[in-house]
Amino acid sequence: MLMKQAAALLQPHVPIDEEELLRRLETPPEPGLGDLAFPCFMLAKSMRRPPASIAAELAEALNASGAGVRAQASGGYVNLFFDPAVWLDRIVGAALEPGYGRSDDGRGRHVVLDMSSPNIAKPLGVGHLRSTMIGAALAAIYREAGYRVTTVNHLGDWGTQFGKLIVAYRSWGDRRTLEAEPIGESLRLYVRFHEEAGQRPELEDEAREAFLRLEQGDAETAALWRFFVDESMKEFNRIYARLGVRFDEVLGESFYNDKLEPVLERLRAQGLLEESDGAMVVRLDEEGLPPCLILKKDGATIYPVRDLATALYRQQVMKADRLLYVVGAEQQLHFRQVFGVLGKMGERWAGDCEHVPFGLMTMEGKKMSTRRGQVVFLNEVLDEAVNKAREIIAAKNPDLPDRDRVADAVGVGAVVFGDLKNRRLLSVDFKLEEVVSFEGETGPYVQYTYARIASLLRKGGYDAGEVESSGAAGVAADHASAGGAYTEAAWACAKRLTQWDAAISDAIRDNEPSAVARYMLELSRDFNRFYHDGKVIQPDDAAGTRARLRLAAAAGSLLGRGLKLLGIAAPERM
Ligand code: ARG
Repeated sequence: MLMKQAAALLQPHVPIDEEELLRRLETPPEPGLGDLAFPCFMLAKSMRRPPASIAAELAEALNASGAGVRAQASGGYVNLFFDPAVWLDRIVGAALEPGYGRSDDGRGRHVVLDMSSPNIAKPLGVGHLRSTMIGAALAAIYREAGYRVTTVNHLGDWGTQFGKLIVAYRSWGDRRTLEAEPIGESLRLYVRFHEEAGQRPELEDEAREAFLRLEQGDAETAALWRFFVDESMKEFNRIYARLGVRFDEVLGESFYNDKLEPVLERLRAQGLLEESDGAMVVRLDEEGLPPCLILKKDGATIYPVRDLATALYRQQVMKADRLLYVVGAEQQLHFRQVFGVLGKMGERWAGDCEHVPFGLMTMEGKKMSTRRGQVVFLNEVLDEAVNKAREIIAAKNPDLPDRDRVADAVGVGAVVFGDLKNRRLLSVDFKLEEVVSFEGETGPYVQYTYARIASLLRKGGYDAGEVESSGAAGVAADHASAGGAYTEAAWACAKRLTQWDAAISDAIRDNEPSAVARYMLELSRDFNRFYHDGKVIQPDDAAGTRARLRLAAAAGSLLGRGLKLLGIAAPERM
């Protein structure tokens, strides 16, 4: 809002358009230098005058504008100081509008977003957890900007490992144990399979045969496979439910079984398939990449072919304009190769495919491995976080109604925020104690700020409806008498409200939910500074109280919206 105003005021006096002005306006490093600054150096050439003289002239023009802004020329810059008595309430009024900052940049564009995508009969590892949370946040943020988004859980539900599982289950498994704990039991069966296959290599042949029968559609084998998939899914769904994550589509790798042959035919027909060491590959020399393996020596197709079929399906059938893959950084080469092959196939939209990688997450300095004994099940992490949250709440607010529900929201929210606040490519070391804390850069800190605002509004009898209906006249009346409400801290908080849309567009530009999470931390900090700066509710100052409550309500509204975008619950009391 301030940026737009500044650009509009400057435009008549400079030979560049408003868009360019918006790009050039800066936020000064210290508040003493104004709310915004405009550098005049790049204008010196076209205006044939030294920057200082341009700055002086612009400052003069702005000071005469009567727009509630004071300008000061200084060292080639025009520093702009907006008058809080004019602007604070305007900003707050705008931010209180339900659609504030909602753009339609993405209108008419369809994003298909690959996220979570765990493997059946294996634990949902920490990479899948990150993919689920980053993906869910990105989907919500894109939607906020008007995109149509289809999230797809690309389950790893096919592959030779099912042959092993089938053999192991038939030899040592039973239905009830598997139903009770599908993933734990599947893991035990795998482990046992590998142990016994060490002694009896013929088990490997049996597994190969079992998988072959599965591929050929043998009914009994297929039913068993379905059973494994369904049971694993039940367990995954419990975690998704805890995280509040839903998918628009759950289309596993098996969905593409009948779509692989056409891809192979095309590759062959286009002369892209080459033999290498008995296997078939697509060379990607020009792309500077190693060849993409398409068919193994035994004729089995592998992971890249499925992703080729998947991308073609998403573009042609689902009509995606943009394909995003939220998958760990270790698959970088895989996606480069897949997109490279698509390009060679002549699919010009290959450039609209993007891998959105993220770094590793360790737990208290230890790698979270999903193999063998050291499985850290996500559920346990969430349980532990919820327990810690419960302890903190019991100490801080023992009379809180609905304590369990709040502990759940805070514990789960802490884990989600603890992930999303980091730039996704960084590796994160996850320290439970730290992320669950109510202080510092944490989800509970943001949630607590939100709850604090909710309680303030309850106490102050703030009624959103009433304020709205009092309309511009009421605001203007407040204005005249609320001068005392416009402290430096209030102004800083209000200015932060104006950065909401930049947080959203940065998040989309970089596929980086942390832009939103960071913004929430800054807004929380600014609000808390305002809150501690002086009493919000002052019985002998009705107009000032109303102005301060409105500011609180606006901050609360954006915090609530932001938490929702990140997939985090926002309890009204904590
Ligand atoms: N299931 C794979 C894994 O756990 C991730 C799949 C990612 N999505 C894709 N389209 N390849 O490693």
